[in-house]
Amino acid sequence: MAVITTGVHGNGLEYIEVHSKLCDARIFLQGAQLERFIPRGQAPLLWVSTADDYLPGNGIRGGIPVCWPWFGQHDTHGWPQHGFARNRRWQHIGSEVQDEVVTLKFLLPITDEDRIYWPHDTRLELHCRLSQTLRVSLINVNLDHHPVTLTQALHSYFPIGDIHQLIASGFSSAHYIEFAKGPYAQTTDDVHFDRETDRVYNALAGQQRLHTPNGTIVVRREHSSSAVLWNPWIEKSRRLSRFNDDDYLRMVCLEAANVREDAITLAPGARHELVTEISWLAPGEQPR
Ligand code: BG6
Repeated sequence: MAVITTGVHGNGLEYIEVHSKLCDARIFLQGAQLERFIPRGQAPLLWVSTADDYLPGNGIRGGIPVCWPWFGQHDTHGWPQHGFARNRRWQHIGSEVQDEVVTLKFLLPITDEDRIYWPHDTRLELHCRLSQTLRVSLINVNLDHHPVTLTQALHSYFPIGDIHQLIASGFSSAHYIEFAKGPYAQTTDDVHFDRETDRVYNALAGQQRLHTPNGTIVVRREHSSSAVLWNPWIEKSRRLSRFNDDDYLRMVCLEAANVREDAITLAPGARHELVTEISWLAPGEQPR
């Protein structure tokens, strides 16, 4: 029988834990940030830095931070990178259990303080469906009388064992911007890592794979033709907060996104659901 409990981290952050026949998971109310997802009998599917302090006010360096309502730097000087949703307290608005599959639902209340960033009447929910696979949906509904435009990402951090052995596949036919240059055409299906990588892909297929020494992680996206592929490498690792200098060896981010020309504009009343679905490659599935 699936068990859903609540708890408070020693440094004050509240969380919900799920233990079922299918997985173990932990999600913090701050940022509605999934921080742990371990399919039963398998290795963890999300990476978190041991340098994170879990202090209120910061996003957690790992798991799946939610970037919303903009991705990256805003044009307005001083506005927070990746928006404000990742370090606000979300409300837990529901839990459902069916055949050991647990779905948790969260809502981001827009406070008066945040109206400066987002003066629109919209509803933002995050749903996590926890089985042997993790499915995360970020749902926007425009309740306003005018169209609204936003960019967003589910900024997933993956445990890849050894960056030097990692091959990320599924990138052929896409193009990308990197370090504000491009677009570059992606000429190979595979990506190898031997330097800082910070690519925003567009027109990308809906599935990529991370081939690690410990198995293959399958990452699917829905309603997202853009994705971000990021590893900070040596120099940037030293500058990142809540990140060990050598953490770049053990993680990569592959983010389901709607950014750049894939920004979404919602007409009044319209709804958009960005989805990422993550699992270990099942025995018998095609490795490529
Ligand atoms: C990635 C960006 O998505 O997030 C990188 O492409 C950025 O440029 C990284 O460094 C981490 O951002 P932050 O704000 O969590 O340190």
